Amino acid sequence: NWSMDDFIDQQIQKIRETVGDKKVLLGLSGGVDSSVVGVLLHKAIGTQLTSIFVDHGLLRKNEADQVMDSLKGKFGLNIIKVDAQKRFLDKLAGVTDPEKKRKIIGNEFIQVFNDEAQKLDGIDFLAQGTLYTDVIESGTSTAQTIKSHHNVGGLPEDMHFKLIEPLRTLFKDETRELGEKLGMPHELVWRQPFPGPGLGIRVIGEVTEEKLQIARDSDWVLRDEIAKNGLDEKIWQYFTVLPGIRSVGVMGDGRTYDYTIGIRAVTSIDGMTADFAKIPWDVLQKISVRIVNEVDHVNRVVYDITSKPPATIEWE
Ligand code: XMP
Repeated sequence: NWSMDDFIDQQIQKIRETVGDKKVLLGLSGGVDSSVVGVLLHKAIGTQLTSIFVDHGLLRKNEADQVMDSLKGKFGLNIIKVDAQKRFLDKLAGVTDPEKKRKIIGNEFIQVFNDEAQKLDGIDFLAQGTLYTDVIESGTSTAQTIKSHHNVGGLPEDMHFKLIEPLRTLFKDETRELGEKLGMPHELVWRQPFPGPGLGIRVIGEVTEEKLQIARDSDWVLRDEIAKNGLDEKIWQYFTVLPGIRSVGVMGDGRTYDYTIGIRAVTSIDGMTADFAKIPWDVLQKISVRIVNEVDHVNRVVYDITSKPPATIEWE
């Protein structure tokens, strides 16, 4: 007879007891877990919570605004938004290796967070959106790392904060239920998984402002059509990638030589294995036409029909 309402009451009480009159810091990524922690903590300790939201410029279209409008605007969280796009782009300039890119983005994230945290006084606690699955996974040693994962969770070791992890006993679906109970918007709570390095690993090879724009705009068209066709809750994850190759096309009477966009859409239960989603042809056709028409510098769209394994969900 475990209920979410009881869980909320117990956690709020526990947080208040632990924190007392001290201050708590939270790193917001815009993802489900840290957002839910933010709203829960705000409910428990209000203005004793300060959140830092690092906008690394690798988020999806409108995503940063949505997070701010919702968590700051609607829920009243005290959020410091750091516009760090330039810092990340500078660090990524000329880098093409996927693992190097992942490490650079992860490290820079910690740096930016650190720089901001240092400006704040009298913080005793650091809150994190660690889930039960994270607890289990970090306890086992996987033989081989396929990709180095980056989460807001991987924060500075040299910071002497005491940790608060109110979601430690919850699975993802329970975290979503908690979010709903706390009155968070459906889109935020049911958002598809999004990797920490964001669009930085969906622009294959070197990341530039121009390429990010193409990835962002094409992804927006894809999401729009998936939603309009009622497929968003049937597909685990769907996004576009920019492989960086260009090919010949024809538009009007003219030859074009422009970028190819890849569409990746998969069904999955836990992200460990996945199948490519069998999106109806007419929907794919509409997506393809719209991407070529609406996104500059794209003249070809391809659909990724590999499963995981042997491919992974993300391309990098
Ligand atoms: P792959 O590409 O390894 O992805 O099949 C499996 C799932 O993990 C997500 N992913 C990440 N999530 N930090 C995250 O929090 C990361 O660095 C990261 N890289 C991949 C991916 O989107 C998919 O859901």
